[in-house]
Amino acid sequence: MLIRRVVKVVAAVALLSGAGCVPRKPPATPLSQNAGAAIFESKGCEQCHEINGRGGQKGPGLTHVGVRVTEDKIRKQILEGGDMMPGYKDVLSAQETTALVRYLHKLR
Ligand code: HEC
Repeated sequence: MLIRRVVKVVAAVALLSGAGCVPRKPPATPLSQNAGAAIFESKGCEQCHEINGRGGQKGPGLTHVGVRVTEDKIRKQILEGGDMMPGYKDVLSAQETTALVRYLHKLR
């Protein structure tokens, strides 16, 4: 019977929403590869760097950057910049920086 089913669903929802349970914070999951790619686009890296045929030419192409450059060097380059590249330490959060570094380092 429909009513019975509705009652069951309501009961299940009440159970799941955990009446009386301590609310739990979502775990601080690291940002994904996709987030790294999105940061690369949204923070302007793409204006100077090309990945897989997309992006500017002012800086070196990064399609295979993970083969050439260590994770530490990528991080340093992003935070401090270089001769012709601005530093991003005041622009990116620690989480964003890590996502970006991991994303780039996996490009091979
Ligand atoms: C105004 C242009 C410009 C922008 C914007 C820019 N870069 Fe660069 N980037 C360069 C240039 C030029 C170099 C070469 C080294 C130098 O002159 O600093 C470089 C070097 C690098 C390197 C080292 C590559 C290698 O092969 O050694 C990485 C990694 C890098 N950039 C990542 C980024 C990321 C990530 C962003 C965005 C947060 C970014 N860059 C934004 C111009 C830019």
